[in-house]
Amino acid sequence: MPSLKCIDCKTEYPTTARIYTCSACSGLLDVVYPMSEFRGERLMSTWDWRKASPKPIDQSGVWRFRELLPDAGESEIITMIEGNNQIWDAPRSAEYGGLDRLAFKHLGMNPTGSFKDLGMTTGITQAKRLGATRVACASTGNTSASMAAYAARAGMKAVVFIPSGQIALGKLSQALDYGAEVIQIDGNFDDAMRLVRELANESPLYLLNSVNPFRLEGQKTIAFELLQQRGWQAPDRVVVPGGNLGNSSAISKGFRELFEAGVIDRIPKLAIIQAEGANPLYRLWLKFQQSEHVEDLELEPIADAFTLATAIKIGAPVSWPKAMRGLKQSHGLVESVTEQEIADAKAIIGRDGLGCEPASAVTLAGIKKLVAAGKIDPAEDVIAILTGHLLKDPDYTVNYHSGSLGFTDKNGQRIQLESRFANSYVKVPAERKAIFEALSL
Ligand code: F0G
Repeated sequence: MPSLKCIDCKTEYPTTARIYTCSACSGLLDVVYPMSEFRGERLMSTWDWRKASPKPIDQSGVWRFRELLPDAGESEIITMIEGNNQIWDAPRSAEYGGLDRLAFKHLGMNPTGSFKDLGMTTGITQAKRLGATRVACASTGNTSASMAAYAARAGMKAVVFIPSGQIALGKLSQALDYGAEVIQIDGNFDDAMRLVRELANESPLYLLNSVNPFRLEGQKTIAFELLQQRGWQAPDRVVVPGGNLGNSSAISKGFRELFEAGVIDRIPKLAIIQAEGANPLYRLWLKFQQSEHVEDLELEPIADAFTLATAIKIGAPVSWPKAMRGLKQSHGLVESVTEQEIADAKAIIGRDGLGCEPASAVTLAGIKKLVAAGKIDPAEDVIAILTGHLLKDPDYTVNYHSGSLGFTDKNGQRIQLESRFANSYVKVPAERKAIFEALSL
């Protein structure tokens, strides 16, 4: 039977405890399993067999792996057949990044267009198991879109807290359409996060941010599915965007469990990439590499985090201790990339016919930087995780291609980004001749 375990003081709780952090020391919680009971060969054959089964819980790219998920009765499971996200070869992106080969696992191809669905199916299922009727989250947009959809499927009420004027319109439109109560906070994501955590402790609202360990259980199957798609062969490295640091923590937990179960014989190295204006983990990582007293290091929040990649505009990431654990266990890396680097990388991913939202493009921008610095070998077998769909934030894309992407910095100065890979559109009179000329026909 799985249980909850504090990552700091190791206190254990049953999975039916309605807690988000350790009651004894406030540390983050893991869902843990009796790993010695599992046999790698057995897990792989069960999971491979299920791919051919028509049952929804076998077809879900999360619940297919249910031996290593919190127990839930089949009738309790709320699934939208999430997952099954392909790994795509991306030759133009590989060339841009300086790698011989690069593949993207595109989690934007999920029911609500982001990786959050993988965690929301387990999060909402746990909410149902605990008898919750109203669920809540703070969000830069994708968590709220996903939670709103899954709550609607489960017949629950969703309450979402979003930072004022800072979420991409595609995401807001989803939360509204799926019927969530949307509360815009006069503050940033970190303010919203702090408030909703307080509210969840003092009210019947069930918290579905990634501090909730049941969310991360679903997201760890990104690692499982990735390995299954590759015939259970581990890549050298997995590159992930870092915001609140739930996803990078979840993916590294997934790899570690399959290593412990004997499915893989090495843990892929993790690379977490952050935007330069919202890079508290990167700053901590630099200190970690220079310090002799690494156990004493704490993440210093960034009060006025900024990036146009609004999904990862986060200054006080909740799951940083778990992300650090994953980095240490995998001999990983952290990199930080500029707004210009993100914008250009996003345009290149588009040219591979895949596209993504800005936060996902930090992966390619980071790879380019790490290869140039000699920290990633061009021959490495690298999988980068695209976290959100291109259509989540069309304003950003259109502004880039029309040469008007920019922002106002802390000093009130307008910073205009260059559109180095712009695909600008042309305007022509409604005449045959003009069209022939415009297309050089
Ligand atoms: N990419 C996208 C598209 C995201 O929406 C997020 C986070 C991340 C990357 C970062 O993942 O937080 O697990 O490190 N979005 C959250 C939200 C914060 O509210 O939708 P993380």
